[in-house]
Amino acid sequence: MQGASSCVLVGALFLFGLFARGLTLQLGNTCSSDSVCDAGLKCETCPANGNTRPRCTRIQPVSPTSKVNGLPFNKYSWLTTHNSFALSGATSATGSALVTQFNQEDSVTSQLNNGVRGLMLDMYDFENDIWLCHSFGGKCYNFTAFQPAINVLKEIQTFLVANPNEIVTIFIEDYVTSTQGLTKVFNESGLSKYMFPASSMPKTGGDWPTVDDMVKQNQRLVVFTSKSSKEATEGIAYEWTYVVENQYGDGGMVAGKCPNRAESSPMSTTSISLVLENYFPDNPNTSAACMDNSANLISMTNTCYEAAGKRWPNFIAVDFYQKSDGGGAPAAVDEANGHLTCGCDSISYCKANATSGTCDVPQLAPPPPAAVTTTSTGGSSPDSNSAHSDARPDRLRWLFGLFSATAFLSLL
Ligand SMILES: *[C@@H]1O[C@H](CO)[C@@H](O)[C@H](O)[C@H]1NC(C)=O
Ligand SMILES: *[C@@H]1O[C@H](CO)[C@@H](O)[C@H](O)[C@H]1NC(C)=O
Ligand SMILES: *[C@@H]1O[C@H](CO)[C@@H](O)[C@H](O)[C@H]1NC(C)=O
Ligand SMILES: *[C@@H]1O[C@H](CO)[C@@H](O)[C@H](O)[C@H]1NC(C)=O
Repeated sequence: MQGASSCVLVGALFLFGLFARGLTLQLGNTCSSDSVCDAGLKCETCPANGNTRPRCTRIQPVSPTSKVNGLPFNKYSWLTTHNSFALSGATSATGSALVTQFNQEDSVTSQLNNGVRGLMLDMYDFENDIWLCHSFGGKCYNFTAFQPAINVLKEIQTFLVANPNEIVTIFIEDYVTSTQGLTKVFNESGLSKYMFPASSMPKTGGDWPTVDDMVKQNQRLVVFTSKSSKEATEGIAYEWTYVVENQYGDGGMVAGKCPNRAESSPMSTTSISLVLENYFPDNPNTSAACMDNSANLISMTNTCYEAAGKRWPNFIAVDFYQKSDGGGAPAAVDEANGHLTCGCDSISYCKANATSGTCDVPQLAPPPPAAVTTTSTGGSSPDSNSAHSDARPDRLRWLFGLFSATAFLSLL
């Protein structure tokens, strides 16, 4: 009896698996909600780009180290969120309403789980503590104060504990003037022991240690501050000694140009090992973000590559990182990692253990139509059938599932 019931259970699980598999949709498929898309995809439209057909879009990059491991830290590109803490719909932990800008949609924990590895955090003295604020004049107010920094630092600590091979970088826009203020909050969060020492960071353009070394040493948290004095007083690396950055805001979104921001050395300064690309407007705009984070971002990544002395950005920083018109910021990071790690146009084309430049480029399906209508005038693509042909394997799986179910039941 037991054998028979476990046989039924196994059969049912098998069929359930078939059906469940048949229900998930791949990149670009028309969808009705996030849950019908494959893991790592979200059901989105991009009306700003004329794309009104809801389709599965990417929110996660390929893990930079998944194809080629063991390279120096500066030979990878990491998805980075601008104002990672400034979440739409948040209220201040002071209880006040927030009157400020919002740049992201999900918690830092969720960002980390989606493959974000660079976090931009604005830290201020506030309420006898260090807070994450999006403020002005170097001062935090109730209506610009999101929450105590320790909360988010603890989220990062939890992530590093749970993911012993992962490396996270924090860029602090630092308004903290209290003595040892940053050190105290990093100590309290349990993050201090993961910090990669500023004294070991390359200062003349050399390579960083390999990611393997950083993992082995458990020095998996890279922290930069915008205040130069903190390197001497607290051992926290002064960002502009180690990173070049292009102009942020509208000034960084002019096609064909990639000027450095005022605090940074010129992009082409190869005695500085890390390159960060900012690509977001002065005023965060949720509806434009899907467009900004797509073709325009890829184009700027190529512009900044040239400007940086043919160096791909190690960090690509955007607003609303989940918003895209298909591949989005994750695809831009994949492109940089493809070039950096295996000489291919995307890390997803890299072949395991192959020599550089041996790429596995998949046959590209023609892009599906942009608009929700299926008439020939609706789409921007020459082939409006691709969405239907994409769906065919799913239909076959369903048919096969039904057939197996009938066969299985007739055996009982
Ligand atoms: C600001 O927030 C603090 C709590 O953090 C509260 O004590 C204070 O009354 C608030 N001030 C105003 C003006 O709302
Ligand atoms: C931070 O922790 C280190 C190591 O435990 C300790 O030596 C140092 O005094 C602490 N600093 C502060 C400001 O809490
Ligand atoms: C946001 O972007 C949309 C789409 O491009 C545009 O129509 C709108 O004017 C923008 N809003 C602001 C406040 O800039
Ligand atoms: C790549 O090399 C590693 C280590 O030599 C080996 O374990 C792995 O199986 C190889 N992968 C492939 C796809 O050949």
